[in-house]
Amino acid sequence: MKTQLLGNGFAVEFLDIDLAIIDDEKMVEMREIWMQHKVAVFRGQELDDDALVSFTERMGPLFVHVRDQFRALDRPEIMYISNIEDDGRLLGALGNGDLQWHSDQTYTKRPVFGTMLYAIEVPTDGGDTWFGDLAAAYAAMPDDLREKVDGRKACYSIEKKGLKRRYETPQHQKDQAPDQWHPLVRTHPYLDRKAVYLSPSHMTGVGDSSFEDSEAEVALLQEWAARPEFVYRHKWRQNDVVLWDNTSVMHRRDSFPTEQRRFMKRTGFYLPEDLGVPF
Ligand SMILES: [Fe+2]
Repeated sequence: MKTQLLGNGFAVEFLDIDLAIIDDEKMVEMREIWMQHKVAVFRGQELDDDALVSFTERMGPLFVHVRDQFRALDRPEIMYISNIEDDGRLLGALGNGDLQWHSDQTYTKRPVFGTMLYAIEVPTDGGDTWFGDLAAAYAAMPDDLREKVDGRKACYSIEKKGLKRRYETPQHQKDQAPDQWHPLVRTHPYLDRKAVYLSPSHMTGVGDSSFEDSEAEVALLQEWAARPEFVYRHKWRQNDVVLWDNTSVMHRRDSFPTEQRRFMKRTGFYLPEDLGVPF
């Protein structure tokens, strides 16, 4: 299996894998390398929706996003991420603006483990996705910061107050995703590796600190974890698949010009039930 390191000691590109036909043995090997490196990149993939969903399902139980208005109509496991409008209707979620650092669906009891994005159309300018290595950031953390995270819990919310939104979260979606408290330091379910569970755009409280004090703490943690030595920046090409481990990285996205088109298909998978709740 040919691979090449992309980032600062994490993020790996697989050079000779076709996700549509990968066999079980290679799958096991690839999955292990992905978990070690936290972000996996596969260029030049040709996947129809069946192939995309069946590959995702081989990685773990299929995730279905609570934001039901952006799911593919006949395929709830596929969510569209796009700025394209079709007859005045938004085809996908998240528009063309920048997105702040977060880990996916931390506001759920059993957060999604792996997220995959498959690039169908990419803009010429901007729209890069940045990944921050939360395990390396934790391992290198100075004592004063580590004291702020060890043994503490944080609250994660689908709709953090004070954050600018592109659309309101309908009540039925809020009902499905009430705020969750998780450990601020997580142990990887397979690797026994610790990482700070940092998702600044979802976190509304750390321990018993006030919202304002929590915001200040989260800002300090973000400043640390987003240092260049912990970050990989992905410049998208059409037909890229990028797969990341939400227990071990956070990510953000750059904005891109409104008039340029970006269209991604997103899928995700859970951990098995017995490992699925952060610890
Ligand atoms: Fe995300």
